[in-house]
Amino acid sequence: MKKLFGFILILMCIMQFSNSYAADSIADYKVVPLPKSIVMQKGEPFVMSNTTNVVYPEGNDLMKRNAEFLVEYVKKSTGLTLTVTTKPQKKASNIILSLDKKAVGTEAYKIVVTKKSAVISGLTPNGVFYGIQTLRKSLPILSTAADVTLPAATVTDSPRFSYRGMMLDCGRHFFPVDVVKEYIDLLALHGMNTFHWHLTEDQGWRIEIKKYPELTKIGSVRKHTVIGHNSPVYDDTPYGGFYTQEQAKEIVAYAKERYITVIPEIDMPGHMLGALASYPELGCTGGPYEVSPSWGVFDDILCAGKEKTFKFIEDVLDELIEIFPSEYIHLGGDEAPKTCWEKCPNCQQRIKDEHIVGDEKQSAEAKLQGYFVKRIEKYLNSKGRKIIGWDEILDADVNQSATIMSWRGMEGGLRASEMGHDVIMSPTTYAYFDYYQTKADTKSILLIGGYLPLSKVYSFEPVPATLSDNAKKHIFGVQANLWTEYLTCKGLVEYQVLPRMAAISEIQWINSDKKNYDNFVTRLPHLIDLYKLYGLTVAQYE
Ligand code: ACM
Ligand code: ZN
Repeated sequence: MKKLFGFILILMCIMQFSNSYAADSIADYKVVPLPKSIVMQKGEPFVMSNTTNVVYPEGNDLMKRNAEFLVEYVKKSTGLTLTVTTKPQKKASNIILSLDKKAVGTEAYKIVVTKKSAVISGLTPNGVFYGIQTLRKSLPILSTAADVTLPAATVTDSPRFSYRGMMLDCGRHFFPVDVVKEYIDLLALHGMNTFHWHLTEDQGWRIEIKKYPELTKIGSVRKHTVIGHNSPVYDDTPYGGFYTQEQAKEIVAYAKERYITVIPEIDMPGHMLGALASYPELGCTGGPYEVSPSWGVFDDILCAGKEKTFKFIEDVLDELIEIFPSEYIHLGGDEAPKTCWEKCPNCQQRIKDEHIVGDEKQSAEAKLQGYFVKRIEKYLNSKGRKIIGWDEILDADVNQSATIMSWRGMEGGLRASEMGHDVIMSPTTYAYFDYYQTKADTKSILLIGGYLPLSKVYSFEPVPATLSDNAKKHIFGVQANLWTEYLTCKGLVEYQVLPRMAAISEIQWINSDKKNYDNFVTRLPHLIDLYKLYGLTVAQYE
């Protein structure tokens, strides 16, 4: 009997031991994006359980919020309930969040795991937040866990590009505040720091401007929507939606808590039918105009000859900068046909008055767009802001101070960087997530077209070796875009970005010599499990 009791005791000990080291409850730091350095250490692991504390420096609200984020993430992934405190408990296990004045880089972090503690440190709370994201992605996904084992290790990490963004087009389809917040959560999960919010379109103006109430009364609603790729058939449903200034501020604050800057885009002078339908006097012909029920590029754009156009834009920007504290405001500038400007007496008068002369490379009307952009840039500079524009603005002779977002391939961005412009690379070839990601999808869902599988996204090198050293320094950002002509619901938004967002995040974060697709796809399934844990719709990849 005694023998049997002893045997059971030993068995229980083995079970206890094997439970705490069970393979499925061990964290793995090889996440997406892959940290710069992971050095596994000898020694016993750190064991996280319901008695673990998350300790933050007293009086630091950002670090307190960081601690709360970590508690929330751990609960979701493992079911464990950690406790936020400012005082480490000697007898309990402690995850310590700390600021390290000697650390280098505002977004860098370090995780040091020993038997005694897991310390996540950085120069700033922003860096610590990224360390928390890495730890979160390292965790096993368990419905209930007694504890989770973090192997002894030192992880050090910092991002390659300072601007890491994703765009969401809320003009073609409107997404409620909760969906925008979910998108921001995804950015945070992938270590991104910029949400580019495309707010105005031919098919709908989506941001409240108090001085121009018709923008949201008339400009935010199209009377119906075309079926398919611009067929002759329309649905019977008016479609609309807009964000109040209060809601936009709520989104800015939500993003800020996650170390994400929201850059609003008011696309001008093209893609403006929402505004023109509301205030037809802003167009060259005076209208009438209609909020577009179909997709494409339209000849009717803002008149560059009329002073009231500039007054309108300045008024809109005045309200916008009160909502968005971002250093940059995106002025769009893409796809602006000059057919109306060629015929418009006001635009032609402006060309004369400003002594704008066309040459063999650019027409006078193309250069008029340069006048337009420069004038608005000057206005925004006077308010302490800088501008970003799509690469078309480069063809309009804009100032070197304008940041160029290269979308028609890489060429515009490369040329811009050699000319001394700062550049964000966002080419259709690698970063347009409205394109198909699998061949099978072409038969099952209606999208704009194109084919951009995960592997192609991963092959993106934003800074070609052939560029001059000086130009290389100007490419400071990488962004993927989600245009939404055919994305009618939240599920499709998720489907189109997942898992391609994982690939672009690794382009944004890790150095090119560390990139390895085969290795990436071994790390991806765990992240996909995490997406699914959050109830997200994820595409197959090929
Ligand atoms: C764009 O895709 N029209 C910037
Ligand atoms: Zn005009």
